[in-house]
Amino acid sequence: MKLEKKVLNGYIPKHIAIIMDGNGRWAKKRHMPRTYGHKKGSENLKNIALECKGLGVKVLSVYAFSTENWQRPKKEVDYLMTLPGEFEASFKGQFEKEDIRVVFSGRRDRFPKKVQDLIKRVEEKTENRTGMTLNICFDYGSYTEITNAVQEIALDVKNNDLNISAITPDVISNHLYTKDLPKLDLLIRTSGELRLSNFFLWQVSYSELYFAKKHWPAFNKKALLLAIEDFQNRKRRYGGLKEKKS
Ligand code: IPE
Ligand code: IPE
Ligand code: MG
Repeated sequence: MKLEKKVLNGYIPKHIAIIMDGNGRWAKKRHMPRTYGHKKGSENLKNIALECKGLGVKVLSVYAFSTENWQRPKKEVDYLMTLPGEFEASFKGQFEKEDIRVVFSGRRDRFPKKVQDLIKRVEEKTENRTGMTLNICFDYGSYTEITNAVQEIALDVKNNDLNISAITPDVISNHLYTKDLPKLDLLIRTSGELRLSNFFLWQVSYSELYFAKKHWPAFNKKALLLAIEDFQNRKRRYGGLKEKKS
């Protein structure tokens, strides 16, 4: 495939994040319930994660459930809570073969016990894998993430473990869920919405943004390659005058 070859000849972003939006609209267009869109969306996550691994991406972060998504009808939330289980069952063999580590970012205290156990189990089982990291942002919100960081840092100051003058951007980064992950190169949002919806507000400071029209269940390999190709044509200057190759 020509496009794939072209993309592989360029710089492959180390860390891609995707706001996987549009499951409901995708299902509605097919006269199906929103939950069907979520099911297809979850299946697509597995495919796109494997495609990213194949291209040499090091980290894929995905926004799967926001701190605000609890406001949705209980039936929809209950269904979304079953998806990590389905996902675990479906990715087992292939993710092991591809050496994919899975981590979760977000609050953990509001999930049913079953989901909390699953997160722990999956993270422990995959922690030594080095092929790619899939970071699933589940009950994730930037306001909560940054607020937690402020509280932890304030506690260090209160306990005399940290001077106020020693609080740097790096210190703040090191208190975020993403502390062990490389800087975000490319953020993709599917489904045409031009907003961040409380996702990665700190992390996107110098990321390239890409908005795709396709709804998440329809976002396929070609769409991913087009996003990376677009990224490869950007000139990242980080406030300077010269382009800096990442
Ligand atoms: C994204 O799809 C999945 C979640 C937010 C859980 P949506 O459910 O937001 O689908 P739309 O945006 O209503 O089409
Ligand atoms: C953002 O999508 C959250 C996820 C994709 C998980 P939403 O559908 O919740 O965002 P809004 O409501 O359109 O801003
Ligand atoms: Mg949405």
